[in-house]
Amino acid sequence: MVKTLRKKLLVDERGKKYLLKKDVERFGNDLGVVDLKGIKEGSVLKSHKGHTFYLLEPTIYDVVKKMKRRVTTLLPKDIGIILTYCGIADGETVVEAGTGSGALTIYLANAVGKRGKVITYEKRPEFAKVARENLASVGLVRRGQRIIGLDEDDILDKEREENEDGLYNVVQKIGDVTQGIEERDIDVVVLDLPDPWNVVEHAKKALNKAKGRIAIYVPYIEQAKKSVEALKKHGFMEIRTVECLVRDIEISEKGARPSPRMIGHTGYIVVARVKPENDDRE
Ligand SMILES: C[S@@+](CC[C@H](N)C(=O)[O-])C[C@H]1O[C@@H](n2cnc3c(N)ncnc32)[C@H](O)[C@@H]1O
Repeated sequence: MVKTLRKKLLVDERGKKYLLKKDVERFGNDLGVVDLKGIKEGSVLKSHKGHTFYLLEPTIYDVVKKMKRRVTTLLPKDIGIILTYCGIADGETVVEAGTGSGALTIYLANAVGKRGKVITYEKRPEFAKVARENLASVGLVRRGQRIIGLDEDDILDKEREENEDGLYNVVQKIGDVTQGIEERDIDVVVLDLPDPWNVVEHAKKALNKAKGRIAIYVPYIEQAKKSVEALKKHGFMEIRTVECLVRDIEISEKGARPSPRMIGHTGYIVVARVKPENDDRE
């Protein structure tokens, strides 16, 4: 889905990465200056000092790693668990809160694709604006696209057409999600905020009763426990709480061993699905 990354990736021979605007024609660091004019991604280059650089197309991973952030973003390992355990798929509609810097939003939008949609709530306008820049940098929203609840409804006809056409599949909203979720018949609700248990009842109303799923990310076990209690109380089933630890393995000629550096604890992920409550015969 995310095709218009609007950036190119330069990697030096030490593996240091530089995310550059598409129109940058020259680049320099301590390894020398490289001329990028007319050079296509997928090329190897030499600097004036004779060092090697590689010009590549960035992946979403490269872009998210380098993007502007005002708050802590979810790490890929945790995002991977949310996407896979909830089975988030092409064409689905996801409600997310809070948007934060938009890292998770980018992966969610990529998973649901052009036929799907992500509606993302954020209560702090200054964070929503940073997220809008990040989302625009990967072509998921138009630059300056309206944030519902913040900007006037001056949406251009062209923008309406583009949205209807599925060109931009993220809708940003300002709002406190503990006060309610406006959308209905949603496939997945994803929460990364301090008190998700206060949103569970609203999520239940918003979710499709046949296939609705929820994912909650929280750093503390007490938050996970309160979330699980709320999920049980408000009619969810298949409740599962996990933590994901990733260990890099260093492989050299001497041998292979786990890296002494490791990302320790980040958070717990609670996933569940809606438990049907009525015998709804056709
Ligand atoms: C940790 S950040 C989310 C980071 C995001 N998942 C990412 O990967 O970039 C949590 C965000 O939730 C927002 N937030 C907290 N409570 C909220 C609420 N009740 N409604 C909407 N947003 C909320 C905060 O302002 C903050 O931006």
